[in-house]
Amino acid sequence: MQSLPNPKPDSALERYEHLYIDGEWGAPIDGELVESIDPATGRGWAVAPMGGAKDIDRAVEAARRAFATWRRVPGHDRAALLRRFADLFAAAIPRLAVIESRDNGNLVREHKASLAAQVQWYHWFASLADKAQGSTIPIDDSVHAFTTRVPVGVVGAIIPWNAPLLATCLKVGAALAAGCTLVVKPAEQTPVSALELAKLIHEAGFPPGVFNVVPGFGRTAGQRLVEHPDVNKVSFTGSTQTAKSMVRAGADNLKRFTFELGGKAPHIIFADADIDNAINAATASSWRLTGQSCALGSRVLVERAVYDRVVEAFRERAMAVRVGLPSIDSNHMGPQAHQQQLDKTLSYIQYGMEDGAELVTGGHRIETPELAAGYFVEPTVFAGVNNQMRIARDEIFGPVASLIPFEDEDEALAIANDTPYGLTAGLWTRDVGRAHRVSSRIDAGMVWVNTYSFLRWSTPYGGFKASGWGRENGIQALDPYLETRTTVISTTGQFPNLYAA
Ligand code: NAI
Ligand code: MG
Repeated sequence: MQSLPNPKPDSALERYEHLYIDGEWGAPIDGELVESIDPATGRGWAVAPMGGAKDIDRAVEAARRAFATWRRVPGHDRAALLRRFADLFAAAIPRLAVIESRDNGNLVREHKASLAAQVQWYHWFASLADKAQGSTIPIDDSVHAFTTRVPVGVVGAIIPWNAPLLATCLKVGAALAAGCTLVVKPAEQTPVSALELAKLIHEAGFPPGVFNVVPGFGRTAGQRLVEHPDVNKVSFTGSTQTAKSMVRAGADNLKRFTFELGGKAPHIIFADADIDNAINAATASSWRLTGQSCALGSRVLVERAVYDRVVEAFRERAMAVRVGLPSIDSNHMGPQAHQQQLDKTLSYIQYGMEDGAELVTGGHRIETPELAAGYFVEPTVFAGVNNQMRIARDEIFGPVASLIPFEDEDEALAIANDTPYGLTAGLWTRDVGRAHRVSSRIDAGMVWVNTYSFLRWSTPYGGFKASGWGRENGIQALDPYLETRTTVISTTGQFPNLYAA
């Protein structure tokens, strides 16, 4: 068990005053310093810099300069740097986990597990760095045609607050391996961990300007990064609404985008399933990470024959969830990551009741003396939900399970696909034919059968429909950061005069 120090008086806040640009640390030139709030206490725990548009400009200039040489560094040398970085990152896990937890409130224990996986992720990207192969195209003896894969250029990585270091890893690892340079903009709510990452990048020996970090607000720093004419690509994880505004803002230089956006995943439990395991998975995928993950299964679709049993099991399981300080390893769930997210979750609980769902358990902010100042919400269960209710349509990002009954497979599929989103989905059945039938008809980028939230560096991840553009991870992880150049070389050099008499 690990406990964090008590909230400190202002004078004792951790201080992070500098941005990391061009291999150097310096104060924002048109930004400000803000207090980063610990959502478990509702109080500032660190001072952090928020860069402005001019800071983004400086970072982009540095990344552009660095790109000229970084793109020519052989893949195996980029891989060696990434491996060195991965080792430094592994050694820093205990410290990074505590920092990340203070910024976003998820359990230190969960962060440690995620960070350990991220080490493998960085090694995966390193292993791909010298494998961006092209192909030769057979035509005839007169030409030799082939493709090469070249880095797309300067990448803006815009990071959310729910899993800052993981989202950063997926973008930074792939972009660096591909030979791109980056400007990383962490979310305003969780600015600190990316600055810690920059220290490790620096120590690993990456050339100045290859990796830059400018924390900042979305509407200033974020907007500038998306609009910047010299940024070739933006890779973003966050809300669908913000992604739409980015497409407009990036239109002027036809910016490339990779988007990993929200979800409203169906988690389908058929009556023929192993119900105990299905309940283990469906409760976890409703409440893990305090519900603040795009991958979670927030619409639990349950076949009528087992509906009451599943509702009762959810009620009992909710009672067993230990909500508390994220520093204590025996807790199951921490706070919501920030005040706006707390407000959003509580609003949706209200909408659930207004729309006629039955509140089975939970539904309140936790007001015990120890937790009252933090942003803690009870694990919440709604039964009798139909798919038109707001709690079934919108991504809540809180620990709210919505249990929707269905009669048969067709209805389950209809409900599952009746959503603007298409990121993940889960289904539980012992019928192999049904597993194939249903999984092949769900419009989602990731479908889990008799398991849930299984993610690896090697499994492509991303959304259909409003859940995103493109994929992260997998053997193709570098593709979004590469352009294909097709070269045709004549073996004869003969070109006819088209205008001969
Ligand atoms: P958001 O998408 O607005 O913010 C995420 C990141 O985008 C932050 O770094 C923010 O500074 C930046 N950003 C915001 N507006 C921007 C703009 N105009 N230009 C450039 N960058 C901009 O998400 P927000 O408001 O923090 O959360 C709202 C909801 O979004 C959540 O309740 C959740 O439903 C969803 N969300 C989904 C995530 C996912 O993992 N797919 C992650 C975070 C939020
Ligand atoms: Mg927003």
